[in-house]
Amino acid sequence: MSWSRGSWRSQKTRQIPDYPDPAELRNAEDRLKTYPPLVFAGEIRRLKAELARVAAGDGFLLQGGDCAETFADFNTFNIRDTFRVLLQMALILTFVGEKPVIKVGRVAGQFAKPRSNPTEKTPDGEILTYRGDMINSHDPAGRTPDPERMIRSYFQSAATLNLLRAFASGGYADIHTASKWLLDFVGGSPARERYETLAKSIDKTIGVMRAYGKFANDAVEGHPQGIDFYSSHEALFLPYEEALCRNDSLTGDPVAASAHFLWLGERTRDANGPHTEFLRGVINPLGIKCGPGADAREVERLLEKLNPGNEPGRITLILRAGVDKAENVYSRLIREMVSAGREVVWCVDPMHGNPRQTASGVKTRHFADILRECGIFIDVCRAEKVHPGGLHLEMTGKNVSECLGGADAVEDLSRSYETTCDPRLNASQALELAFAVAERLSTR
Ligand code: PEP
Ligand code: CO
Repeated sequence: MSWSRGSWRSQKTRQIPDYPDPAELRNAEDRLKTYPPLVFAGEIRRLKAELARVAAGDGFLLQGGDCAETFADFNTFNIRDTFRVLLQMALILTFVGEKPVIKVGRVAGQFAKPRSNPTEKTPDGEILTYRGDMINSHDPAGRTPDPERMIRSYFQSAATLNLLRAFASGGYADIHTASKWLLDFVGGSPARERYETLAKSIDKTIGVMRAYGKFANDAVEGHPQGIDFYSSHEALFLPYEEALCRNDSLTGDPVAASAHFLWLGERTRDANGPHTEFLRGVINPLGIKCGPGADAREVERLLEKLNPGNEPGRITLILRAGVDKAENVYSRLIREMVSAGREVVWCVDPMHGNPRQTASGVKTRHFADILRECGIFIDVCRAEKVHPGGLHLEMTGKNVSECLGGADAVEDLSRSYETTCDPRLNASQALELAFAVAERLSTR
């Protein structure tokens, strides 16, 4: 079956709402088609090669960011703070695992959200559901889909990536700076006693490395050490993805130029659906969310479509069954994929299978559930002799109160509940999780 960037349109569309004026949507798509790519084929290939190493047991994928980026929260500090926490987490995981950690943000494109229902009931009547800032407004008065939002998402993504690229290549990502942040964090955390020794030994090791590097190569002195940082989002809103699809100028291969890494969500991982149709034709590394109902035959059909050649690094299976079902679902899926000879990165998303509601109906998650699902994932991977290769999180660098618990004991969600979508780990909870996962990965 031949593929084109628009061949998804012949499938029954899903998760794409009706626009009042389809011609306006087409006009916005046409403009987007002429804009520069946000990411480049060489970067995408490099990430895929790095993920191939993770699939082979060498390295770890750390992927995290907002559930949904918004126009209102677009500012330097939010981008910087999330980047900083991801870097600190990566440092902890690298130090303990002594393996490279691949850093991927849910950022610069994570603007569209899948919904189970097209409408919701409010005291003022039934209205369209919020589908992310790329499509409509969170404000109940602005729920009509507006194509200009797609253009605005593109420009916000471009500016976000510009800042992230500068941080990643400039002094901001310097490992020495990152270890100082870690000491600052640990110094103020209630989890201090558990993690102080580790943070100090990270700092000491980095000091030794730098001193050694200075003797070994005086020329690098004064040059900050850069890192690779990648972008990712759910490939949900296909008009945007299609409009940003480009051909690699060297090979002609189609690339999704909206982000380095794209994933299929729990609601769109249909082997015969439009999202799979689009993604099968682009060379990017892909994720597939696998919830409690993910059946091995279904996943096998997806892999047959998306990765017929079993290319390592192409597929990351992001497991998100929730604490109660994790053990059964993960052992079964891993066993079947191993016996089918599938080479994938095994990654856990301990957020989406663990929704909770407070008595007053506020969406939250318990830090303890999140931590426990990570532990189950690591144990099952070990029992099945595959590499526990990654962690996918909803988190922010801000001190929000959206998930309950952690060493800081978040109890009052109303203190700073800001998400327009799912509850995120705050900076301190994210770092605590990184320490705990690193410890768990290091004990055999
Ligand atoms: C998400 O990652 O925000 C999400 C909606 O996940 P899932 O598709 O796993 O429910
Ligand atoms: Co979410």
